[in-house]
Amino acid sequence: MAVERTLVLVKPDGVQRGLIPDILERFQTAGLELLGLELTYPSEDRIAQHYEEHHDEDFYPTLLDYMVDQPVIAVAYEGVEAVSTARKLVGDTEPHNAAPGTIRGDHAHITTQHANNEAKPVKNLVHAAEDRDAAERELNLWFDEGDLRPVGRLDTTHIR
Ligand code: PPS
Repeated sequence: MAVERTLVLVKPDGVQRGLIPDILERFQTAGLELLGLELTYPSEDRIAQHYEEHHDEDFYPTLLDYMVDQPVIAVAYEGVEAVSTARKLVGDTEPHNAAPGTIRGDHAHITTQHANNEAKPVKNLVHAAEDRDAAERELNLWFDEGDLRPVGRLDTTHIR
């Protein structure tokens, strides 16, 4: 088992619904160590780079509208099998498929808004890098390497 780093985003709906403490606590409880955290309002260019594999998807304009210039928390973690651990904690992309006990399974169902063929954002609260290569690419996109260092345990009870 390898020590890895990964990148998590708390998406705008996670920030606006006051779920930051619960979300961060789950990663911490699972043993992932915080290396960096930043609240930002990402530009279209940053979101375009982050989702570079998805520019041709039908949902891409909806995804831009959901994420650009909205409050997002970027978080860097390190830990054993950090990439797959974070993905498991997040749960399935589609909130209605996400298992109970996952972040999306516990909190995202109420934002599932599938109307027939209508372009609505999938508001699934959080992103976690898909694999190790994506994690390193995304960490470079959201953080300066020199700013990533072990922070220690975060007292999430004081985050609102
Ligand atoms: S995955 O996890 O890569 O297999 O998911 P995928 O279905 O390929 O989707 C890629 C990312 O696009 C997001 N997505 C959307 N966001 C907003 N609105 C709509 N309609 C939509 N459809 C897909 C999906 O959540 C994935 O982003 P992340 O941040 O990785 O979850």
